[in-house]
Amino acid sequence: MSDARQFVDFRIDDRVAVVKVDRPPVNALNRQVEDEIEGVFKELGTLNEIGAVIVTGGGAKAFIAGADIKMISEKSPKEAFEMSAATQRVLSKIEKFDRVVIAAVNGLALGGGCEVALACDIRVADESAIFGFPEVSLGLLPGAGGTQRLARLVGIGKAKELILTGDPIIADEAKRIGLVERIAPKGEAVAEATSLAKRVLLRGPIAVSNAKKAINEGTDMTFEDGLRRETELFAALFETHDMKEGVRAFLEKRKPDFVRR
Ligand code: HXC
Repeated sequence: MSDARQFVDFRIDDRVAVVKVDRPPVNALNRQVEDEIEGVFKELGTLNEIGAVIVTGGGAKAFIAGADIKMISEKSPKEAFEMSAATQRVLSKIEKFDRVVIAAVNGLALGGGCEVALACDIRVADESAIFGFPEVSLGLLPGAGGTQRLARLVGIGKAKELILTGDPIIADEAKRIGLVERIAPKGEAVAEATSLAKRVLLRGPIAVSNAKKAINEGTDMTFEDGLRRETELFAALFETHDMKEGVRAFLEKRKPDFVRR
């Protein structure tokens, strides 16, 4: 871990990295926080033993309550363009990370915070978590991928309802509309995300990575192109030790010993 990071750090527990964004009072995003998130993911990418990453917020109040509004207020249109593009780039790196990334939403997930959660593969919410896109209340729009990822995840109508009203929703409603996949008891979002991560860790890591890639890339392709990409990623697994091990282990009625190659 790097001493230079001020707001984002991680701990590794049994092949699961828990990345914490901790910038009191509400973990608002600014350039430094985003650079630190990017740096953490870069570092985690070099650690072969990591099988899953959980992203959460520091403190009891917020996951991430959005971009730092003070910082936004000082931007010119050109700087706003750069800010949006830069934040999108960081969140795309989370989305494309070659291991499963789970958001453990432990409190307020507003604006850019919700967009971070959307860039993760799976979202687990504390039962007290609140989700929302308040950008239009500020005369803004979700500029960190929210208009695109939310519509893909929950459908265009629900995405428009949430983004155009700016009204927040509670965790149960977020689960009902498919914005989160699991609800955890109060204070247990990281624990629940960890138990989900442990399920994924039992599986072939390259298979998990390729399946994630097929789903992600397929959403931006025609159906036919998506099927072709699936076939390529399927066939590529047959070059791996882990695929042979997984199939052999099944036939020999034993647990597979995956080694990520
Ligand atoms: C900077 C923020 C902040 C934010 C809260 N604070 N949200 N500072 N950026 N996004 C600060 C407050 O100014 C206050 O500072 C302290 O945190 C606590 O906030 P309170 O409002 O006093 O607390 P509370 O009543 O509990 O309400 C918390 C809150 C509310 C629900 C989070 O503050 C709120 O609605 N914040 C705005 C959230 C938002 O609009 N996010 C979207 C931002 S736009 P002081 O110093 O007074 O104690 C965005 C666009 C992304 O995310 C696009 C990127 C390209």
